[in-house]
Amino acid sequence: MTDQDGPTLQEQAPALLSHAAGYASHRTISIGLRHGLLEALADAAEGLTPEELADDIDLDPFYVAVWCRSALGAGVCTRTDDRYRLAPHIDTLLLDPGSPAYIGGIFPVFEQHEMFDRFASVLDSGERLWWDQCSADWIAGVAGTGAPFYTRLVPGGLRQVPGLLDRLEAGSRIVDTACGAGSGLVRLAEHFPDCEIVGVDGDGHSIDLAEKRVNEAGISDRVTFQASPLEEMAIEPPATLVINNISMHECRDIDRVTENVLAALEPDGWFVISDFPFPEDDEGLRSVPGRIMSGIQFFEAQIDDQLLPRSAYDDLLTRHGFTDLGAHQLTPVHALTWGRRPA
Ligand SMILES: C[S@@+](CC[C@H](N)C(=O)[O-])C[C@H]1O[C@@H](n2cnc3c(N)ncnc32)[C@H](O)[C@@H]1O
Repeated sequence: MTDQDGPTLQEQAPALLSHAAGYASHRTISIGLRHGLLEALADAAEGLTPEELADDIDLDPFYVAVWCRSALGAGVCTRTDDRYRLAPHIDTLLLDPGSPAYIGGIFPVFEQHEMFDRFASVLDSGERLWWDQCSADWIAGVAGTGAPFYTRLVPGGLRQVPGLLDRLEAGSRIVDTACGAGSGLVRLAEHFPDCEIVGVDGDGHSIDLAEKRVNEAGISDRVTFQASPLEEMAIEPPATLVINNISMHECRDIDRVTENVLAALEPDGWFVISDFPFPEDDEGLRSVPGRIMSGIQFFEAQIDDQLLPRSAYDDLLTRHGFTDLGAHQLTPVHALTWGRRPA
């Protein structure tokens, strides 16, 4: 390829600099989340001057003015005269963990040591990591990013699976494989009050957090736990539904796990995989969702796996004899794949 075939130097420079600008905006949002600037603006319908904002949350006014201008540039705030307000929908997107549209979790997670810094520090040795070596902050951060996946999955995503919701509303057993810190267990129990729920996870700290969350939600009579790798999971009696939320790609032996899921299901039972659909082609890698998923791959690599293209789950379920396969894209970074155990 000659120089004439590709973009010019004048085009390449701003393309690269847009990454530095994105980094500055990312850090602005993280600071805003961590130090309560965004929350204080959300509470001020009439807007705030930087001095009022600083005074409200006891921060330095000069620094807050710097933050406000950067937040304006990032599209997080608007300004009328000298008063700043949150831009439309920013409160939902960044401050409402209960919303299916919530994306506020990704900013602090991208800044944690486990994401890029540890990757860079072990780039030569290739030393791997597992969940029990991750910090409590990391596990809490991941739970924060996993929550909107559960919010979209239960019940809206499950509604896409023909026949499933009627069965769950009538009462049955649901297994959340790789339940993590348990936000999915609580959501499942709340939406399907006649169902028993089982949470399985291989990480003891996550199971402890999940148990605490379930107790606090007052649903411990309907939720049981199994602390076990999914590769060794044994579920009795069989369940109507097995779900896996943003964890299937992590399984050390995905075929063994799928065999165990099949054995855990009653005839006609469903397996629903809810995961990131990693791009299948170069165009997808260049897209904004593709670039975020490529960022997530830095952590996944350290735990010795990679996000998978959604079609890999079609192959997996077909290979294990599941029938009635289906798929549904909930957002650009969230897709469902399902199949049924043959009758
Ligand atoms: C990304 S977190 C997701 C947790 C939860 N599903 C959520 O969305 O918040 C991945 C979880 O999968 C668990 N996990 C990964 N591979 C596993 C395996 N092979 N067996 C059991 N648990 C596993 C980890 O311990 C961790 O809690």
